[in-house]
Amino acid sequence: MNIEIREITRLDYEDIIKVNRDAFENYGEEEIVTLVTDLLEDETAKPTMSLIALVDGKPVGHIIFSKAKIDNEKNDLSTYILAPMGVIKEYQKLGIGGKLINEGVKRLKELKTDIVFVLGHLDFYPRYGFIKNAIKEIGYKATYDIPKEHYDAWMYMPLMSMKEIKQNPGRIICADTMNKMEYWVED
Ligand SMILES: CC(C)(COP(=O)(O)OP(=O)(O)OC[C@H]1O[C@@H](n2cnc3c(N)ncnc32)[C@H](O)[C@@H]1OP(=O)(O)O)[C@@H](O)C(=O)NCCC(=O)NCCS
Repeated sequence: MNIEIREITRLDYEDIIKVNRDAFENYGEEEIVTLVTDLLEDETAKPTMSLIALVDGKPVGHIIFSKAKIDNEKNDLSTYILAPMGVIKEYQKLGIGGKLINEGVKRLKELKTDIVFVLGHLDFYPRYGFIKNAIKEIGYKATYDIPKEHYDAWMYMPLMSMKEIKQNPGRIICADTMNKMEYWVED
């Protein structure tokens, strides 16, 4: 299996939509497709880091890291949020999701990103370096208040100095496209 992970171009948009529609089938796929297409055009999300995974040339996975801000006085850490990501059903559990995260994080590190956040599955993201409960561990809140029972799902991955990170706690302000309560708090 030849897996290629590379940055997306405009020519990939149709494939990206297909990948997300398949990955999120019966889990609000149309909403996710709208989120993806809006996020890729969102000025407040830029510069995004968006990667596509191809197996033997076939598009099978996609991930977006969008730029975020920290609502505090210093606000000088380079911050990203991972969302959404998807791998088509036929190719899940083969490590492709992990490769998308690892490659994205590697590239973000090269761009001197300080920290990446994700709100997501507890059994998945910690495998690839995310640490649970950013509120308790480092004092960083999500854009909307997450119910206490879901605190663990708000995770972070430090890429630079923990000292700087610990000195800068605050609320993470996501890109405009994701700045809707329904993306953060389940009904
Ligand atoms: C989550 C997702 C991207 C993982 O991609 P992947 O290529 O299957 O990931 P990997 O192969 O690197 O890792 C798979 C492991 O993570 C676990 N995992 C994947 N999704 C999980 C989930 N929703 N909850 C718990 N564990 C999950 C799998 O069980 C698997 O572990 P196992 O091999 O021990 O069974 C993919 O399952 C997917 O697209 N799911 C639907 C869309 C979605 O939920 N996206 C994430 C939210 S934005």
